[in-house]
Amino acid sequence: MIAPSILSANFLHLNEAVDMVEKSEADWYHIDVMDGHFVPNISFGFPIIKALGNVVKKPMDIHLMISNPDQYVERFAAFHPKVISVHFEACMHLHRTLQSIKSFGIMGGLAVNPHTSISSISEILERVDLVCLMGVNPGFGGQKFILETLRKIKHLTAIREERNLNFLIEIDGGVDENNSASLFKAGADVLVAGSAVFKSPNPLKTIEKLKNNKSTS
Ligand code: DX5
Ligand code: ZN
Repeated sequence: MIAPSILSANFLHLNEAVDMVEKSEADWYHIDVMDGHFVPNISFGFPIIKALGNVVKKPMDIHLMISNPDQYVERFAAFHPKVISVHFEACMHLHRTLQSIKSFGIMGGLAVNPHTSISSISEILERVDLVCLMGVNPGFGGQKFILETLRKIKHLTAIREERNLNFLIEIDGGVDENNSASLFKAGADVLVAGSAVFKSPNPLKTIEKLKNNKSTS
């Protein structure tokens, strides 16, 4: 699956971004919420997501890069997204936070910073519906993919197989036409792409390529 990140869209013409995504082979909208505290950037909040939620037909995948996500789960749940992901590094009581997301019938996602090892999240894997491995340090679009992420995808895929679990693996940050095939091959199910899609002269074609490129390695 492909989830274009709205963060890289032209905010004066969000309707055009929505039209493009609906027409495309993309599967989800990736929605990046930043608070200027957990990450050194501020993106957008409730009014934008509400406006999007009123018009989109494809599911929304909300990525909370915020401190104290528990405080806001209910407000984001009101937009009926498919997924809400919270950061491992932002949660003191992760079981409780995931339980609260899932109590609204929403997939509980766990986002993981580049420096956080797969062994740190091992004990929660039975409780997550999706693990979002960051391919960059969260906070900004358009950064270069951190290569060690590939090793983390393989490690997580192996654990998933070994324990017979069925959470989705999502990769967020630095995804482009050159690495998409190898990320899928390593075990990823969902690729988030911001600048690769929205800075492309032909976003529809780029989404098609991200989704269907075959690995050569
Ligand atoms: C980064 C965000 C990403 C970002 C990806 O903090 O979580 O979702 O929009 O952007 P690209 O694809 O440009 O790296
Ligand atoms: Zn994101």
